[in-house]
Amino acid sequence: MLTPRSFSLCLFPTASGYSSPDRLRILVPEKVSPDGLALLSAEFDVDSRPGGLSADELIACIPSYHGLIVRSETRVTAAVLSAGRKLRMVARAAVGMDNIDVGAATKNGVIVVNSPAGNIVAAAEHTVALLLATARNVGRKTLGIIGLGKVGMKVARMFVGLGMQLLAVGPYASPALAKQAGIELAAGLADLLPVVDFLTIHTPLLASTLDLLGEAEFRQMKSPARVLNVARGGVYNEAALLRALDQGWIAGAGLDVFTTEPPEKGSVAAQLAAHDKVVCTPHLGASTAEAQENVSLDVCSQMLTILRGGLPTAAVNAPLILPGEYRKLQPYVKLVERMGALYTQHYAPAGGGRGGMVGGTKFELVYEGELSGVSNTRPLFAALVKGLVSVISDSGGRDVNIVNATLIAKDKGIVINEIHEHGGSGDGAGAYASLVTLRTRSTSRLAGSGGRGGQMIQGYVSGKNVYISKLGRFTASFIPEGTLVILHNYDEPGKIGGVSVALGKHGINIRFMQVASLEEEDEEGDGRWILLLLVSRVCRREAETEARRRS
Ligand code: MLT
Repeated sequence: MLTPRSFSLCLFPTASGYSSPDRLRILVPEKVSPDGLALLSAEFDVDSRPGGLSADELIACIPSYHGLIVRSETRVTAAVLSAGRKLRMVARAAVGMDNIDVGAATKNGVIVVNSPAGNIVAAAEHTVALLLATARNVGRKTLGIIGLGKVGMKVARMFVGLGMQLLAVGPYASPALAKQAGIELAAGLADLLPVVDFLTIHTPLLASTLDLLGEAEFRQMKSPARVLNVARGGVYNEAALLRALDQGWIAGAGLDVFTTEPPEKGSVAAQLAAHDKVVCTPHLGASTAEAQENVSLDVCSQMLTILRGGLPTAAVNAPLILPGEYRKLQPYVKLVERMGALYTQHYAPAGGGRGGMVGGTKFELVYEGELSGVSNTRPLFAALVKGLVSVISDSGGRDVNIVNATLIAKDKGIVINEIHEHGGSGDGAGAYASLVTLRTRSTSRLAGSGGRGGQMIQGYVSGKNVYISKLGRFTASFIPEGTLVILHNYDEPGKIGGVSVALGKHGINIRFMQVASLEEEDEEGDGRWILLLLVSRVCRREAETEARRRS
């Protein structure tokens, strides 16, 4: 009689994967250099709207796009990000992130990238141009620099060439680099402000840099001093700057950025822009053809990689992955995701219900062999979360990625402890380059590779395929793909034939079959169990009905 001791039906993507037949769509609601966009248009539908979109128009159309590329005019708000149901990534074709709600992007699993270096030279050049436009005879004068990041350092090097003395403050300034560039570091603003002839700021606009210079600071400066801003409106308190110019506490300003852009009519920003001691430009710091080409190529090539299914290598809201590590990890991402999906479908139903044994479960993900030496295994962590929840979530796990995996795991009470087994007796990758083991924590009732419940899955990668080599106490070798029926049964004559007849009666074709044996003799009395694996072509509808019934 065919009465399996236990039974599970597991569905996996087929070789063609999860990808949708539609071409992915990218929205570009601003003027972005065509050099980068050309990289994307061969594979994706790129919809350029250089005239821009209102906030409502953006929310109305974003649901059909997978990628969004913006400069500084489009505000990518939480509302836009949650309306973008298909949105996988947002690219900012510049450095600053102030028009993107990165926190909301992270919650929605949207990868955010920028171009950290593409327009540095342009911004530094513009600082030089503004300084020269506000004054002549700059050689032998002292320039104060607040912020010694990429732009601040570039500015410093350019002004050294003009014969200026440089004095700077920066929370992350490296004394060695500063010395090499001929920059003297001041202890703080109080030491810097009274001695400089010019002051330039190169910081992002943060809570700590908003209104960094106000009335008290302007009053400390020399009266012929001039200030420059090619960073962000708001780092100088605009009302205080206006007073400083009116009262003659300082002699002039070169301003490229304002708190409102373009400055709102009647605002302090507008009064500054019109002031006769101010030379102003309309946020042109990055607007050279070369800089626009650089940032466009930079963000579009990142978008190409990510929308093709690759991992982000320099995202603002995802950890940095070096190209070498990325190449090592990529095949294992698929393996670990499949192991997670197998776990949920094979073990979780026993826990009684939708994700009953996944939510609240503590897992160990063990890497042996080459993988144990990879320090950043974040993509594998994300792949496990994705696999575990893919069969119990409405989105099929498509919304889980490296950006939000931690949040989703936390939300569902899934705890994953990654273990890198280095050398010694634990280095059991054997014939494989690497071996990955997923097991529930040994504190669990059924846990451990040796536990009676045998909640353990082990796998490896060979060539382009991923294989499961152990399922609980059974040794196997199968590709987790398509529809898989797993039966636990007694090792008795006629069982396999019975299964094949029963499946045949329902029009189910067996494409691959494997009898997996126990690792060791079962000590628990009546005979030995076998694990019967049947990879079959089940009518899709029936399989889905069965999966629904079981969940
Ligand atoms: C930047 O953030 O890179 C510059 O301010 C240029 C821009 O905003 O587009």
